[in-house]
Amino acid sequence: MSNHFPVDRALFDDVMVPNYSPSAVIPVRGEGSRVWDQEGKEFIDFAGGIAVNCLGHCHPALVGALKEQGEKIWHLSNVMTNEPALRLAKKMVDSTFAEKIYFANSGAESNEAALKLARRWALDNFGAEKSQIISFKQGFHGRTFFTVTVGGQAAYSDGFGPKPGDVVHAEYNNLESFKELISDKTCAVMMEPLQGEGGIVSPTQEFVEGVRELCNQHNALLIFDEVQTGVGRTGELYAYMGLGVTPDILTSAKALGGGFPIGAMLTTTEIAKHLKIGTHGSTYGGNPLACAVGEAAFDTVNDQAVLDGVKAKEKLYFDGLKAINEKYNVFQEIRGKGLLVGAVLTEAYQGRAKDFLVAAMEEGVMTLVAGASIVRFAPSLIIPDADIAEGLARFEKAVAKLAQ
Ligand SMILES: Cc1ncc(COP(=O)(O)O)c(C=O)c1O
Repeated sequence: MSNHFPVDRALFDDVMVPNYSPSAVIPVRGEGSRVWDQEGKEFIDFAGGIAVNCLGHCHPALVGALKEQGEKIWHLSNVMTNEPALRLAKKMVDSTFAEKIYFANSGAESNEAALKLARRWALDNFGAEKSQIISFKQGFHGRTFFTVTVGGQAAYSDGFGPKPGDVVHAEYNNLESFKELISDKTCAVMMEPLQGEGGIVSPTQEFVEGVRELCNQHNALLIFDEVQTGVGRTGELYAYMGLGVTPDILTSAKALGGGFPIGAMLTTTEIAKHLKIGTHGSTYGGNPLACAVGEAAFDTVNDQAVLDGVKAKEKLYFDGLKAINEKYNVFQEIRGKGLLVGAVLTEAYQGRAKDFLVAAMEEGVMTLVAGASIVRFAPSLIIPDADIAEGLARFEKAVAKLAQ
């Protein structure tokens, strides 16, 4: 195109708000689990755009859906509904506990909708007193002011003025700490059924069941934030299915669009009815392009062979990382579920996860961190086994460079 001009990383500092610090590499092309930068250097993608690209880059079903919809109709707003949104919603309803869907554009917006719905449900049913929201320390729910306040790291929510009120935080996996906070004034409990950003922490069965039970006792809604765990990531369509504990509201984003921005809130008819006409909305929520791609991603992942594949690939990561650790002794634990895997650095390497990420990039493999001391892996759910082996071999070279 005639108005294209060369860009490099330095341009970021010139023209972008400085809230991010992106790597020096600018990727320009991807195919499956391989990515190439401006210089043609190849990377194996163990990051998946932060647990988003559930089918890798440029999956033919997603490209096909986008092209087909792109030539039909782009946007209508919620003044009119559209075919892709209704198809995707129907499939989500048919495959989960939910009876009603609300579409948003991101994880944070889906959570924002969930929290507002919970507050309205409590107000309508019990009165203004029932407004408390309980969430968990180290939890992450997005960056809107309400969701970041509900998130469990004050460092992310401090410094923006008065916060939305009546939000308290319990310890994850500590039922006693939760019991001390919950009461009949609790409106909702928001939790990740596996903490992602907070360090790849799985809940104990006793904890999740206990939280559900206490929510029932106190008429509080249980909201599962499955923005990171949803759509196949843990080897189940949604993580709640593996836990056998059903929430009242569930939020989904990231993998739902396979790389196209979309989010959703799922709930029951009984709860949904409190979001009456005009109570909440979004210009782009349910956009036909997003929903067409979302439908293709959802169809492709919601297949037992793909979900079983996630569990098989989990083992390849665990075995591969343990083998690396036997040689270099840099991890104290490999944890997580499905293709959401965390390698926790030993005492000697505390705070150095970013160094591992940078060294891995140099060796040609993209990884993530979860906090300062955990290297995180969230690749495509259909990453070929050969790419896992090659990526782990490259990662081992990075570890070898950093190991003392
Ligand atoms: C569990 C969870 N909830 C919410 C979010 C926020 O999603 P988004 O960045 O799409 O707003 C994230 C993002 O990492 C997440 O991991």
